[in-house]
Amino acid sequence: MKLWVNGGLHDADAARVSVLDHGLTVGDGVFETLKAVDGRPFAMEPHLDRLTRSARGLGLPDPDLDEVRRACAAVLEANPMPLGRLRVTYTGGLSPLGSDRGDAGPTLVVALGETSRRPDSTAVITVPWTRNERSALAGLKTTSYAENVVALAKAHERGASEALFANTVGQLCEGTGSNVFVVLDGQLHTPPLASGCLAGITRALTVEWTGAQETELPMDVLERADEIFLTSTLRDVQAVHRVDGRELPGAPGPVTAKAMRIFAERAAQM
Ligand SMILES: Cc1ncc(COP(=O)(O)O)c(C=O)c1O
Repeated sequence: MKLWVNGGLHDADAARVSVLDHGLTVGDGVFETLKAVDGRPFAMEPHLDRLTRSARGLGLPDPDLDEVRRACAAVLEANPMPLGRLRVTYTGGLSPLGSDRGDAGPTLVVALGETSRRPDSTAVITVPWTRNERSALAGLKTTSYAENVVALAKAHERGASEALFANTVGQLCEGTGSNVFVVLDGQLHTPPLASGCLAGITRALTVEWTGAQETELPMDVLERADEIFLTSTLRDVQAVHRVDGRELPGAPGPVTAKAMRIFAERAAQM
């Protein structure tokens, strides 16, 4: 496996960043996960736009997107695989101990891992911890993801693959690494960005292609929605067949199945 660190390709075993990198010591970094099918990254430009937005949100210098594109191409070419998780990480770089960032300049890492296609449906849980829609980090894809680590581990403990959060005012927000859609009276809804959720690339494409509405939704909508699905880079559109103790027999239901079909068709044309 070869990956890109600060300007060049290296064997994964030999690739090095400082142990005092601010990404490691305090989670001062941003990232993107892209899907690569047969070596072709999906929706590269929206991911690069979001990387820049996240970096600006942390006060990091804008990433050199030409270098990121070159790094992605080099890593994909060096590691051929049918379905890959391409991970771009951009951090505050070598810094003093503590929360002040140093001036050594940012760290860029691009790595690739092989993955397999997700099942068409999955189980989710809700967790009591909240997304803070007023956080300085709201809407940014930062490497400060330990809350997601804890919630996802809880989901796995309970036989589910994702955990859904409410925000601080009890509205449905998002999963640890996915956005959420619900069907009410035949109509598709997803929480607005003001809920504090990440502006998912898959979410945006799904809204555009299905006409889903952005609606503030109370958390208990999960107890009565006719259908529920998740969206993310590696899930695409994935039906939910159980939420906590509630079964949704027959998932994917008709609206979800249609969204899955439209997404697959339109994505294949990109
Ligand atoms: C917190 C969070 N919400 C939503 C998503 C879905 O975003 P995307 O569709 O761009 O993968 C992600 C990405 O994995 C995420 O980390």
